[in-house]
Amino acid sequence: MIRYIYSADNIKPEQLKGFCVNGQHPLSQKTHLKLLLNSDEIVLAIDDETDKVVGFITAVTDKIISAYIPLLEVLPDYQNKGIGNELMRIMLTRLQQFYMVDLLCDSKLQSFYEKLGMQKVTGMCIRNHEAIRKII
Ligand SMILES: CC(C)(COP(=O)(O)OP(=O)(O)OC[C@H]1O[C@@H](n2cnc3c(N)ncnc32)[C@H](O)[C@@H]1OP(=O)(O)O)[C@@H](O)C(=O)NCCC(=O)NCCS
Repeated sequence: MIRYIYSADNIKPEQLKGFCVNGQHPLSQKTHLKLLLNSDEIVLAIDDETDKVVGFITAVTDKIISAYIPLLEVLPDYQNKGIGNELMRIMLTRLQQFYMVDLLCDSKLQSFYEKLGMQKVTGMCIRNHEAIRKII
């Protein structure tokens, strides 16, 4: 059974094995846990049998009008079982008081997010590779 929780307070770095958080510059399990603890909202998918985290989503907010979803990931062995969809669905419910809820994604994933009620927009970003090297 997969259960969903909203806090990383009782999570240990070892429970976060296997993720590729941040793609090109993957974070260590310790830094991953710190990131979860620092986020305004998180949802974690836990496999009851192994007690391991198998999927997660984070959000940061200004607590007034806007929220941003920087990270969503499901471990490869657990993909295509509806976990990513459920993580997004729960997170969008938890962020429903905000006017703006934004995220960036590859165009191939736009239909995944459209099914959750999101709409395509044009976005911009900066990626500071020096900064990420200092914190991995
Ligand atoms: C994207 C991701 C979170 C989806 O999680 P998941 O648990 O596999 O998703 P679900 O099982 O709920 O939904 C699967 C749906 O997503 C689609 N999907 C998943 N990965 C996809 C990809 N890379 N490209 C296109 N579609 C994809 C599937 O085709 C499927 O569509 P369907 O519902 O029409 O059949 C997961 O594939 C993942 O962690 N990918 C790597 C990290 C990533 O890309 N994160 C998103 C950053 S914006």
